[in-house]
Amino acid sequence: MRFLPSGRILRVTPGTNLLEAARAAGLPIAQACSGEGLCGRCAVLVVRGADGIAPEREPERQAKRRNRVAPELRLACQVVPSTDVEVTASYWGRGRDEGHPDRSFAGRTRG
Ligand code: FES
Repeated sequence: MRFLPSGRILRVTPGTNLLEAARAAGLPIAQACSGEGLCGRCAVLVVRGADGIAPEREPERQAKRRNRVAPELRLACQVVPSTDVEVTASYWGRGRDEGHPDRSFAGRTRG
């Protein structure tokens, strides 16, 4: 997995989801439901390799709708890539601390 804009690369064991990978890469990532796919806070943008991940299922769609997450984002805790992907979050790469997830585009909502 490659995280943008830093370009940080992480090799992960199969079955690792994007939330776990981002944490392992030392990147801040918002979450308020312990990765259960409920809060919508862990939303990220899959920039490349989206064809290597399963499409959204209804629970993820519902969580995104309920939490007003933009349609193009995926819930990191629900995405387990099977191929190389590039992922970004709006608050990554804003200087030394890589930004703060509380000012994130988890808040980038539609409407
Ligand atoms: S951590 Fe709550 S939806 Fe992913």
